Amino acid sequence: MYFPAYRPRRLRRNERLRDLVAETDISARQLVYPMFVMPGKGEREEVVSMPGIYKQSVDNIVKEALEAVKLGVNSILLFGIPEKKDEVGSEGYDPDGIVQKAVRELEKKAKELIVITDVCMCEYTSHGHCGIIRDGEVDNDETLEYLSRMALSHAEAGADIVAPSDMMDGRVGVIRETLDENGFGGLPIMAYSAKYASSFYGPFRDAAESPPQIGDRKGYQMDHRNVREAMREIALDIDEGADIVMIKPALSYLDVISAARQEFDHPIAAYNVSGEYSMVKAAGKLGWIDEKQVMMEILTSIRRAGADLIITYHALEAAGILNGSRK
Ligand code: PBG
Repeated sequence: MYFPAYRPRRLRRNERLRDLVAETDISARQLVYPMFVMPGKGEREEVVSMPGIYKQSVDNIVKEALEAVKLGVNSILLFGIPEKKDEVGSEGYDPDGIVQKAVRELEKKAKELIVITDVCMCEYTSHGHCGIIRDGEVDNDETLEYLSRMALSHAEAGADIVAPSDMMDGRVGVIRETLDENGFGGLPIMAYSAKYASSFYGPFRDAAESPPQIGDRKGYQMDHRNVREAMREIALDIDEGADIVMIKPALSYLDVISAARQEFDHPIAAYNVSGEYSMVKAAGKLGWIDEKQVMMEILTSIRRAGADLIITYHALEAAGILNGSRK
């Protein structure tokens, strides 16, 4: 059908018509809000490179999590900033570690909330790598043991979903087995399946105080030149028992999200990471872009690519806008 019989502009003439035929929706229930918990009481420190995002003690985490629920954002992804770090990241699997404490409080005080915990060692190790170091390298198989301990301790504290982000081979299977053996057969795993070694994580590493002290993460996180490899990683995680698979970062990886959507039926999460957030905030502050519009455009593009859920630091702001908009 050609012009003048077909005029695509007919359906763009006003907002109601545009809404009628819009292909993509986004709602607060699909957003997951990442939060950083730190020791202490009454603590709330803004992350310099992430305006609007705070490192907070458990009491303040509970407060903000309750605000999230009020806005319809029912899920948070929790990261811990421990009191002390060591070679093997022991606070990561300590039943009285910072994340475990926060989860217990949240389970008591914010019952409606879905608490997802990040399972990875880099926030807890003195060297900042995501696993145990042997002969100058992250030892895959030895790390699995620690990761499964960490996941189990989160489960015991009351986490609703565990989310391994370390990119060790075989970790989903080992965590699944550990959870099953300990009576947590019903606890879902959200696997960071295609997690790229990305410079977009810069601001997060400021927040979590977790940059690797030597070297980088390219020996375990994925090479950004690859998309077929992402499909293999996702297939492996699904075989090992992942319930939700994740692609991370989101914005420079929309093609990966789209390819995964074509190939897999599992729920797909996309992580709109710290650097993606900070760029929008910085340009907004300078008055170079309309921050709110750009935020919604980005989040919608991630949904359009095929993500079911989006982990984003914009979650509360976006939910505010979504709740205010005409339904
Ligand atoms: C932990 C982890 C990282 C992020 C999520 N989990 C950092 C990293 O791998 O260096 C990044 C999140 C973000 O940038 O928002 N391994």
